[in-house]
Amino acid sequence: MGKVYGKSVQHYVRHLWTSQLRNPSQLRLVVALLATWIFVQYCTGNWLLTGRAEYATIRDLKEEVQKLKAKVEIHERRFWLDPLEPIFQYRPKFWLGKTDDVDDKDQVTPYFLANFVNASDKDVYDRRIYIDLGLHDFKSSVCWMMQNYPTKFDLVYGFEADAKLHADIHTLASNITECVKGTSAEARGYKTHEVLNTFTFYYNFVGAEDNNKSSPPTRGLSQFVRDIGIKENDFVVLKMDVEGWEYDILSRIMDDGTYKFLDEVFVEVHYNHPEMHPWHWYIFKHSRAEIQALLTRARDLGMFIHPWP
Ligand SMILES: *[C@@H]1O[C@H](CO)[C@@H](O)[C@H](O)[C@H]1NC(C)=O
Ligand SMILES: *[C@@H]1O[C@H](CO)[C@@H](O)[C@H](O)[C@H]1NC(C)=O
Ligand SMILES: *[C@@H]1O[C@H](CO)[C@@H](O)[C@H](O)[C@H]1NC(C)=O
Repeated sequence: MGKVYGKSVQHYVRHLWTSQLRNPSQLRLVVALLATWIFVQYCTGNWLLTGRAEYATIRDLKEEVQKLKAKVEIHERRFWLDPLEPIFQYRPKFWLGKTDDVDDKDQVTPYFLANFVNASDKDVYDRRIYIDLGLHDFKSSVCWMMQNYPTKFDLVYGFEADAKLHADIHTLASNITECVKGTSAEARGYKTHEVLNTFTFYYNFVGAEDNNKSSPPTRGLSQFVRDIGIKENDFVVLKMDVEGWEYDILSRIMDDGTYKFLDEVFVEVHYNHPEMHPWHWYIFKHSRAEIQALLTRARDLGMFIHPWP
């Protein structure tokens, strides 16, 4: 037992108790003091001595509330896992015979994260960023995202490693005009001249890490995410179609925590399965079960990830 003013706590309590029995007015005094103390604690927000942060001004307090709110939103936006694909199958519409086009992208639109959170809310998300790994040509996914994704991206980064396709990308100006003029992209607020300034294209492979010996050189995704200064409060959508490298890249970003910066990930998964041999997918080394395990791990971590398309 600890000492209070040189006497043991037991002694002090015993003294209080016996004196109260002898003198009820002392009991009233003790009860009154205790009630006053509780009341003061309650009114000052110091309830039961729990710590209370100090704010110099009401503006500081409001900023703190905003920060907390943003944190909650960040947590929430990783929480929308269950409503994802009811059938855990790649290209469900195609396999269910609802489309003839194996690359039909409309099957992913119901699962867009921005259907569930307001990605355009500037109080919650500082910037909206789209990263396209393996963009092929402008029309195939960047333009499709601009026309279909329910927010206007402030920045777009695109990677392509095929020199021929890269040359095509240099004709961007006319491609962007074509993509924006009179379309749903224009309705969403995209303007041709602005889009040109906010797009950055890289003639590179993307992998788990940098490799300058490949041709063209390989950029590691985790390093790239650091290089472009992505913050927790950015709304980041990433699409990857990297011909089998998705296995290494996804494993790496899960291991090193980079996945936390990506709000939504679309991945074209490539696997070796007899069903996919008509499309020459026997060249891929991972089995469908391995890919499925990879996606399951991603979802267990809370990633909002879906197969593309
Ligand atoms: C989303 O946020 C934007 C910007 O704050 C706002 O203008 C818009 O009305 C919001 N949309 C919805 C559906 O709440
Ligand atoms: C981009 O524009 C160029 C030049 O107008 C055109 O030849 C090319 O087909 C366009 N590419 C796409 C994918 O629209
Ligand atoms: C690759 O080259 C880039 C640009 O020259 C450089 O910044 C980077 O550090 C190099 N990466 C490696 C792994 O050597």
